Amino acid sequence: MTARRPADSGYLIPITRPWLPPFSEYARLLEGVWSSKMLSNFGPLAVRLENQSQEYLGARYLLSASSGDVALTLAVKALGLPANSRILVPSFTFNSTVNAVIWNGHRPVFVDIDPETLNMDPRAAADQAEGAAAILATHVFGSPADVDALSLLALQADIPLLFDAAHGYGSMHTRRHVGTFGSAEVFSLSGTKPVTSAEGGLIATSDPELANRFRYLRAYGFQNDYVSHYVGLNGKLSELHAALGLLSMARIEEAVATRHRHVAAYRARLGTLLDVGFQKIATRDRSTNKDFALLFRAASTRNRVEAALADRGIQTKRYFRPCHEMPAYREYSERPLPVTESTYARILCIPLFEEMTDIQRDLICMVIEEAVSGSVRGRARGRGAVAAAVFAPPAA
Ligand SMILES: Cc1ncc(COP(=O)(O)O)c(C=O)c1O
Repeated sequence: MTARRPADSGYLIPITRPWLPPFSEYARLLEGVWSSKMLSNFGPLAVRLENQSQEYLGARYLLSASSGDVALTLAVKALGLPANSRILVPSFTFNSTVNAVIWNGHRPVFVDIDPETLNMDPRAAADQAEGAAAILATHVFGSPADVDALSLLALQADIPLLFDAAHGYGSMHTRRHVGTFGSAEVFSLSGTKPVTSAEGGLIATSDPELANRFRYLRAYGFQNDYVSHYVGLNGKLSELHAALGLLSMARIEEAVATRHRHVAAYRARLGTLLDVGFQKIATRDRSTNKDFALLFRAASTRNRVEAALADRGIQTKRYFRPCHEMPAYREYSERPLPVTESTYARILCIPLFEEMTDIQRDLICMVIEEAVSGSVRGRARGRGAVAAAVFAPPAA
């Protein structure tokens, strides 16, 4: 079957699509910008966005930036570590996590992930903690990393702990928002995130010195006097971006709830398939479900499902490609990361976005069921059949 594909994404069902406010609401905010002519330099909209986020997250200090990538790079810079420090990072993450370390002249030390949560494995991190100057862990797909174990490890090693919370605006751990843990947490507001300003980023921290350094760093290294106190760069969030971010943020709870509804339906239906498992999310945690991943037992099944979905015009992604295997980072690869490598061979992220319809979701499930049953022939007799260690049970 050749599916009709809309011109915008090239797919009948894209993997993600940003929720955009009615244009009139955006235009109304821009009217103020047009009359003040204040386009950037932390004007009223950027300040409002920071205040709104600070209050929502319960963060002590909250500063905006031009992107998550820049905010991560500046967050690492703000730690003020000696050159060539060893920083523990996952390989199963987006490239920015690793770039932030290397751009600052440090050395990423790749740590394997937990096979169920897909987040940095705190035991693997502990094994490599000697000589490490910091930890930078990602909340993968918005599911909080093991915040407690990593915090303990950082405390024992007396090193800072950063979180790449790019996917985590709206995530929670023990009733506290992501954004209140570690030395600092960094969010992305890019177009693929549940909250978006088209491009943008945020840092949340309780450390006044770190916040102050970040304030300088995101503005070329100076404040009003044009005297650089740090080697900064232009990391400013423009008013045009802040306007969109404000409207998007105002409905974060709705965004998370809609994604949860879709995820619950995916898990209920696909969780009965023999070959399919999901990322495990601790009961005390809330994920934004920035992405929804299927974890297959066999790479061959993943490949077949991927091909079947592509054939129907349904977009998927193999998030994340292991960084330690990429040309730019290979020189930092000190050891194999078996869980990361095995996960990448079997994972597939399928469409999840707020305006996805139940009919679209059902179609996606149907295609997956057909493709899986091509090899598995049938469904599990019960959930117990898929309760192997790497397969997390569907959420209740
Ligand atoms: C885990 C992670 N970190 C950092 C980033 C970079 O954020 P941005 O695109 O806002 O620069 C992304 C972007 O998708 C990401 O997925």
